[in-house]
Amino acid sequence: MPTPVHELDLPEIDLFGVQRFEALEILTRAREDHWIVRNQMGFSVLHYDDAVAVLRDRRFHSALALLPSMAGIQDEQLAGRQQRSILAMEGPEHARLRRLVAPAFTPKSADRLRPFMREVVNGLVDAFAAEGRCELVADVCEPYPIPIICELLGAPKEDWKLFSGWATDIFRIFNNDLASDLPRIKAAMGDLDDYVRAMIAERRDQPADDLLSHMIAAEEAGDRLSTDELVMMTEAVLMAGTDTTRNQLACSVALLAQHPDQWRMLADDPALAPRAVEETMRYLGAVAGTARVASEDIEHRDVLFPAGTLVATSLATANRDPGVWPDPARFDITREPSNSPQLTFGAGIHFCLGASLARAELQEALPLLARRLRDLELDGEIEWKAANIGIWGPARLPLRFTPE
Ligand code: HEM
Repeated sequence: MPTPVHELDLPEIDLFGVQRFEALEILTRAREDHWIVRNQMGFSVLHYDDAVAVLRDRRFHSALALLPSMAGIQDEQLAGRQQRSILAMEGPEHARLRRLVAPAFTPKSADRLRPFMREVVNGLVDAFAAEGRCELVADVCEPYPIPIICELLGAPKEDWKLFSGWATDIFRIFNNDLASDLPRIKAAMGDLDDYVRAMIAERRDQPADDLLSHMIAAEEAGDRLSTDELVMMTEAVLMAGTDTTRNQLACSVALLAQHPDQWRMLADDPALAPRAVEETMRYLGAVAGTARVASEDIEHRDVLFPAGTLVATSLATANRDPGVWPDPARFDITREPSNSPQLTFGAGIHFCLGASLARAELQEALPLLARRLRDLELDGEIEWKAANIGIWGPARLPLRFTPE
């Protein structure tokens, strides 16, 4: 008979308000004796294999749709939107959507944007290269992903700022202050909705070579995406593809700035870029975890998770599992690629749809920055975002380097 998870003798780890590095230390210590711990809302699994098993188990559903009610918000409009998001869908509905949109998110379609990615990063660096100083978050990370997403979607350049503002406001959902952020979140969602509907109408008349036109044309066995689904997908791409990439780039550069020998190596050998991306994402991921809820009674490791149990998967500790990476606390961009991929893009059916695009963005930005920002050093303390931010990284990353 499996033991109900609530009856296990487990430490309770309350990480609310605890800074990310301290949280990682606490969880890493706990992992020595436990594969699972209690948290404020349910349980957290800490090992690589268990995180993957939970994320691959289709009976564990995304907890995204529960976020508003967990924050005490009873807003039907917001809850409805969350439930309709690809991130919250499950079963055949989710599989159908992924099948229809997957061809637009292949490595090949991401590769087509690589020259544009380099152009954007070079343009941003041109603005400060002669000064020998920059604040990387504001100068590069913040502005970088929006033009890429807009180019991908086919939105005109003059509208980049609009998208940037909407993405920032909608991302407040993850900031644990939903009650006061709600009006701004809803206003941004409404404006984006109107904009995308107008764009869809235009593309239906005049298709172009962009993601939106490809999604409109996507068809499988006579099945097509509805306008509502197209709007949801466009919003999902904007939301899921912006803040994640910004924060990951800042995390990756922050790490490399603290390891100048590896920065130099990357500048001299840009072919190291794919490894540098995987290693920086493993070591310091912008997303440290994601959560699932048991949709029925589930047994795992002879433990019963009753329906409704919330299980967080700690991607940050899974990414430092000594069973997967030898000497996991060592940061090394020359590490041999592992057969088990780093988990910052998640796993299972919700595995990041934009992973190829995000990888391409980081693989282009990192070596280019390493080549242009020679002799990189921190120019003061890194200011990290507050602990309660879901997608996390430096708020300020002041750097100095040899001027061009
Ligand atoms: C470094 C940057 C990124 C990171 C760290 C990241 C991380 C993640 C993670 C962890 C998930 C799964 C969440 C879960 O299982 O609960 C996810 C899903 C998703 N990501 Fe990303 N992401 C990144 C960039 C992007 C980009 C650039 C796009 C769009 C072009 C994107 C689109 C999506 C979408 C649509 C989903 C939902 C997939 C589904 O539910 O089937 N992401 N991402």
